Amino acid sequence: MTRNRSAGWGMGALPRIVRGEGSYLYDAAGRRYLDGSGGPAAFSIGHGNREVNAAIAAQLERVACGYRYLFSSEPLEELTSLLLSLCGPEFGHVLYSGSGSEAVESALKVALQYWDARGLAGKKHFIARERSYHGNTLGALSVSGFLERRRPFEGSLLDASFVSAANAYRPPRALAGAALSEALADELEKKIEALGAERVAAFIFEPVVGAAGGAVPAPEGYARAVHAVCARHGVLVIADEVMCGSGRCGTWRALEQDGIVPDIMAVGKGLAGGYIPLAATIVRRELGDAIVARQGAILTGHTYSGHTTACAAALAVQRIIQREALVRRVRERGTVLLAELQAALGRFRQVGDVRGRGYLIGIEFVRDRATREPLPPERAFSQALGQRAFADGLIIYPCAGNVGGAAGDTVIVAPPYNASEGELAELVERLTRAIERTLAGG
Ligand SMILES: Cc1ncc(COP(=O)(O)O)c(C=O)c1O
Repeated sequence: MTRNRSAGWGMGALPRIVRGEGSYLYDAAGRRYLDGSGGPAAFSIGHGNREVNAAIAAQLERVACGYRYLFSSEPLEELTSLLLSLCGPEFGHVLYSGSGSEAVESALKVALQYWDARGLAGKKHFIARERSYHGNTLGALSVSGFLERRRPFEGSLLDASFVSAANAYRPPRALAGAALSEALADELEKKIEALGAERVAAFIFEPVVGAAGGAVPAPEGYARAVHAVCARHGVLVIADEVMCGSGRCGTWRALEQDGIVPDIMAVGKGLAGGYIPLAATIVRRELGDAIVARQGAILTGHTYSGHTTACAAALAVQRIIQREALVRRVRERGTVLLAELQAALGRFRQVGDVRGRGYLIGIEFVRDRATREPLPPERAFSQALGQRAFADGLIIYPCAGNVGGAAGDTVIVAPPYNASEGELAELVERLTRAIERTLAGG
């Protein structure tokens, strides 16, 4: 039995959602929930935003969707220019899809097609990291180091290779700081050399690990070091920013803070903030140009890629984020929120680590702070905590199995970027109480 909460709380019928307003959700029984994790870090500007709803309604009045091979549209064009301006001049192509998994799937395919277009069709292999999650479609799952989600599908997944997770709290050989980043980059380089660079298409990683680790930012210098290794060996870098991007970590691109520009990046979740499903694969100009010049088109996409109303929703969400300077708010207030959580939770000896970037914060629970030994898996602590918090009106995101697949208990806190001061204080207070009650077995 895995401890995956994807089927809900495993306790029968879920409450029926009836309404959302700002940072709160309401169920049919009249219960109110503070959305302390934006579901799985998805709802960037909270719920029921009138401006976004009006933009969606207005678009539906005009036309719901123009099929991508027949029409362009104003929302699609404006969103594309906005995304390119937010990501930086290095990027030149945006491919839309409906979920983070599809955005990752497209990222993998763009890498393969790029090498094919360059006449290096032997470069078919992907390297990813242990304790990572890139999605549930077969390709994205193939590069996910998430044992519990892969197990039933093993044998039908692509043959990808894995290197160690970049986790300063659980480092290999007790390494720390620059030595840790160097050792991890060295491991990647040895892996590329062992496989043969002529076989390796790309290295994919989450700049801040989400569900697979419980919000784990890479150690200082890691991204730069692996980027340099990949550049040296002609291996593309794919940044999976589905959870950590779109402003969630306090810069629009999470990797901006590491001084790195990847070759391809995937975004989703916060892009349209949950109003309508939308994700995107954003590609460096020269990569996309090379594919188009030699093979006519980038061969990925779906019937509803660039769905007009989804683009209108994302455009409205992103305009609000820009107008209200919410990414800066996340950066500045995120540092304070992290400190507040560290102060409030430090008194629980089972809280081993409180870490994160911006509004993507992970709390890891342990049996022993000194040895970092995880809690016994059979206690299913993160699940119990998530359930306790939910019953008491707080949504957080429990993630289990970050230590070897079975053990390890973390929860993610990821409030909407525009949560008020009062709501953030309520989040800290409710979470503290939920931890207290769960530890007490209540
Ligand atoms: C880093 C990362 N990549 C990809 C995905 C897959 O996104 P989706 O669930 O929208 O398919 C997720 C989802 O949690 C994610 O966190």
